[in-house]
Formats: sequence, C-alpha cells, structure tokens
Amino acid sequence: MNPHTELTIVVPTFNERANVAKLVEKLQGLLGDAGWEVIFVDDDSPDATASVVREIALRDARVRLLHRLGRRGLASACIEGMLASTAPYVAVMDADLQHDERLLPDMLQELRDGHLDVVVGSRHVASGSLGDWSGKRRLASRVATTLSALVLKADLKDPMSGFFMLRRGLIDEVARDLSGIGFKILLDIFISARRPLRFKELPYRFGTRVAGSSKLDSMVASEYILMLLDKLVGRYVPIRFIPFAFIGGLGVFVHMAVLFALFRGFGLSFIAGQTTATLLAMTFNFFLNNLFTYRDRRLRGWGLLRGWLSFTLACSVGAVANVGIATYLFHATPEGGPWWVVSAAAGILVGAVWNYAVTAVYTWNAKGTAASAR
Ligand code: GDD
Ligand code: MN
Repeated sequence: MNPHTELTIVVPTFNERANVAKLVEKLQGLLGDAGWEVIFVDDDSPDATASVVREIALRDARVRLLHRLGRRGLASACIEGMLASTAPYVAVMDADLQHDERLLPDMLQELRDGHLDVVVGSRHVASGSLGDWSGKRRLASRVATTLSALVLKADLKDPMSGFFMLRRGLIDEVARDLSGIGFKILLDIFISARRPLRFKELPYRFGTRVAGSSKLDSMVASEYILMLLDKLVGRYVPIRFIPFAFIGGLGVFVHMAVLFALFRGFGLSFIAGQTTATLLAMTFNFFLNNLFTYRDRRLRGWGLLRGWLSFTLACSVGAVANVGIATYLFHATPEGGPWWVVSAAAGILVGAVWNYAVTAVYTWNAKGTAASAR
C-alpha cells in the first residue's frame, strides 16, 4: 500500500458490479492521484462484483478488495473495511453513487483541522435532502430516527446516514464494542463511544440509484430493533437470546395448537400427538430463527437440512435437561405452594439457555463474530 495514504474510503458492496468502476473514476477525478485508497468490502456478491474490483485493482494500486465469504451485513462489512485501513482518516460511503462524493474533500478538511472526531454527510440539516424517496420510506426513516433518541445522546440530525468520515483513533476506541448488526453503523459508533463525540454534519442531497437495486428490505427494521436492544441491554444478555427466547415462546403456541388438533381433534394417542407437535414446533422455531435471529448468517440449500438436524438434536437434549431439572426440583421442594411453577420455570430457563448456546455454535456457527462476541 502507498505509505502516504491519508484517507481510506470504505465501500461496502453487494451486487454493485455496474457501479464500482464509475465510483473509482469519480474518486480519481476528485481526489487526484495520491494520498487516498478505496477498499471495497464485498460479501461474495452473486453478480461477481469482487472480480470486477479485482480487475480494476490490477491497474490501480489505490483500489483494494476485502472479499468476505459466508457472511452478510452492511455494518459488519464497514467495520472490517475500517479495520483493514491504516490511514489516519477513514470514510464510509455507498457504492451506488447515491452519496455525493464531492463532500469528501470538505469532510477531510474538517477533520484535518483537528477538533472533530466525525464528519457526517447529512440529509436532514439545512439544504440537505432525501432526494426522490417515497413517502413510505421517508416515514420509516423518521420513525427510526426518533427511536434512536432512546439510546443516542448526541443531537445528530441524521444518525441513519451511511456516509461519514472519521479519525482512525475513534475506530480503535469503539471497535470492540460495536454491535455490527444491520445497517446502522454510524449510530452504532456513536452509541458505542463512551464519551460525547465531537461531530459536524455537512448537508448533501441523497442521489438516485442508477444501476442495481437497494438491499434495504422490510427485515432491516427487525435488525434495527435488534441493534438498539443490543445497545440497551447487550452488556447483560447476549443479544440474540432475546429474539431466540421470543420465538421459543411462539413455538409453545404452535406445539399446543398441533397437539390439540391431533389429540383432541383427530383422536391420536397423546404420545403420537406430543411427538409430532414437538417436531413441528422445533421446525417452526428453526426456520423463524434462521429468518430473524440469524438473518445475517442465514442457512440455505443443504445447509438448511444440516442446520435443521443439528437444531432438533440440540433442542432434544435441551428438552431432556428441561424435564430432568424441573422434575428434580419438583421433588426437592416442599409440596404445595408455588413450587411446581418455579420448578417448571427453572427447567424451561435451563433448556432455553442450553438450546441457545448450542445452536449458536453448532447450527449457526455464530461464535466469535462482532455481533455475538459478548
Ligand atoms: N458488503 C455488503 N454486505 N454490502 C452491502 C450489504 C451487505 O450485506 N447490503 C448492502 N450493501 C451495500 C450496497 O451494495 C451499497 O453499496 C450500500 O451497502 C448501501 O446499500 P443500499 O441497498 O444502496 O442502501 P440504501 O440506499 O437503500 O440505504 C442507504 O440509505 C440509508 C439511510 O436510510 C444507505 O446509505 C444506508 O447506509 C443508510 O442507512
Ligand atoms: Mn443505495
């Protein structure tokens, strides 16, 4: 790498092959020949964005590629890109040309002056604009911004912005505390910093996407809530345990409904009904967890079958532990009173924690990632 690289621009990509060359060209025109580099962080895009970047990098030493396998996620991509940089200033921007790159020199100048930690490209301060967003998306963005006030102390007008530049010292400061879940990396950084950050917002107009399509779908909302939850209670509870336990609760309803239908409705024996209901509830839980709790490491294809097998196996052991502990406590506690409820609750808790811990490692392989480090 060029030893005089002052600025690294981290660009997360997923299916952006038509945009990367144009972006590099724009950066070159704006920032000149030296002093900067761009790191594309690609999550193995099916459209082969990575090979397009590699091709450009052959001709241009300022272009680098971080090719991630088996993982998805905008925030975690940004974190790894920033950590791969050794430059004193690091920017994050989208690949799709919706962020106005002409803001970069001003951002850099603001940081060089030395009084700031972060400069944010903002769509909400005077003369900034959302461009041609639909009413629904504007509203969603407003709601998310309002919610963020729950955990965000700073008066940031556009905490949802995916366009910003910071001093590298700040990355080193917060890297270990970032959630890395979902889309909202800037918010994550602000909340993770244990001090008020010195920041400035520069207005710009959010452009229209020319090529490719947005990856922000309805699931983004649930990831956003997960990230906020992580910031609120992540210190005390592993954050994915919350949706996991919630889905487990839903599984109980599925179980009861199936059992009721088979046992009472169709007159099956209790044991046959109970076995079928258990299997169906586990399967239901597996798919829901795969969709929500572990959305960023979702299993597909054959991985689904493997995952389902390990999940049902782990949960079967969990069920045995649950019943065993509950029964033991039930006999060990005085007769009458509320002890049967306490015994059952203890069994359920142990079973749930077991199920969570084992499936996190064996089904979703989620230990040691930023999002589950705690
Ligand atoms: N590596 C990686 N992995 N990159 C991703 C992923 C992913 O899972 N998902 C999206 N990206 C990349 C896209 O290729 C694009 O370069 C950038 O992240 C932003 O994704 P878009 O899909 O274009 O997002 P958007 O335009 O709808 O949302 C923008 O506005 C939001 C404000 O509400 C982004 O700037 C968001 O960061 C911002 O929060
Ligand atoms: Mn976009």
